[in-house]
Amino acid sequence: MATKLYVYTGTGNSLWVARQLALELKDATLDFIPNLSRHFKVDADRIGFIFPVHIWGLPSHVIQFIDHLQINPETYLFALAVNATQPAATLLQLKKLMLTRGHSLAQGYSISLPSNYTPWGGPGPVETQQRLFREAKEKIRAIAGTILRQERKKVDRGPLWQNILFSWIYKMSFRSVRRMDKKFWVDDKCNSCGICSKVCPPSNVEMIDEKPSWLHRCEQCLACLQWCPQEAIQYGKRTVKYPRYHHPEVTLKDILDQAKANKE
Ligand SMILES: Cc1cc2nc3c(=O)[nH]c(=O)nc-3n(C[C@H](O)[C@H](O)[C@H](O)COP(=O)(O)O)c2cc1C
Ligand code: SF4
Ligand code: SF4
Repeated sequence: MATKLYVYTGTGNSLWVARQLALELKDATLDFIPNLSRHFKVDADRIGFIFPVHIWGLPSHVIQFIDHLQINPETYLFALAVNATQPAATLLQLKKLMLTRGHSLAQGYSISLPSNYTPWGGPGPVETQQRLFREAKEKIRAIAGTILRQERKKVDRGPLWQNILFSWIYKMSFRSVRRMDKKFWVDDKCNSCGICSKVCPPSNVEMIDEKPSWLHRCEQCLACLQWCPQEAIQYGKRTVKYPRYHHPEVTLKDILDQAKANKE
């Protein structure tokens, strides 16, 4: 049976999760979720979607992919929403979105890993990060079994109060995400290497006069801020004092490959 995993990532957590799952499933192939403006046909027995939770909901990149997906109605569909302990109603949102497109999500799991949302703080102590990686590995192993058995079950979700309140915040902020890049700025550590421009999935960073400039079609994945080798990109006032993060087993080349796949 052929399984296809489609992944979207800013700092590698979701890519690591997809790779761990592929190891367990054995028959799976892995691709990046493409940047789409037209229909996209996928032929597989099972399809999995693996992506980060952004502002308690689905990143626009994932919504666009689901909107343009053409699949056989028999395909077994599952998702892993990678987060920093607050998935809220993201997987319910995905399930509903899929239903409106005629697809049925059989399972949806939350995987909690270190936070990459540096404006709210760092990723936490190394011991805590290691614990999260261990727990995630165990959960992914169990999830793989349920996928191979093609089980159907309720999707993971947060507490009811979070789902109501945070889904409301998600809806209120969704339209302004593209312009949230107005808060990025670059400090004098920038050496004009251009990596921030190359890692950006929607090509939202342009080098002007050898410094990055943001074009207001941002997806808030934070790849530019996290992969800058000089830690020269700041967001608002608070990122100056927090350490950067990317998954330790994911490399800059992986993120450049994602950006390249998006430009094809
Ligand atoms: C803009 C933004 C919003 C985020 N919102 C949430 C959230 O609502 N809940 C949560 O648990 N984590 C949130 N996070 C943290 C990421 O979901 C988490 O760190 C994830 O593992 C990152 O995955 P990635 O490395 O594949 O991009 C957010 C991160 C970003 C950049
Ligand atoms: S990645 Fe960092 S150092 Fe390189 S151009 Fe961008 S801001 Fe400057
Ligand atoms: S500008 Fe930065 S945060 Fe926005 S989509 Fe590009 S890499 Fe992600």
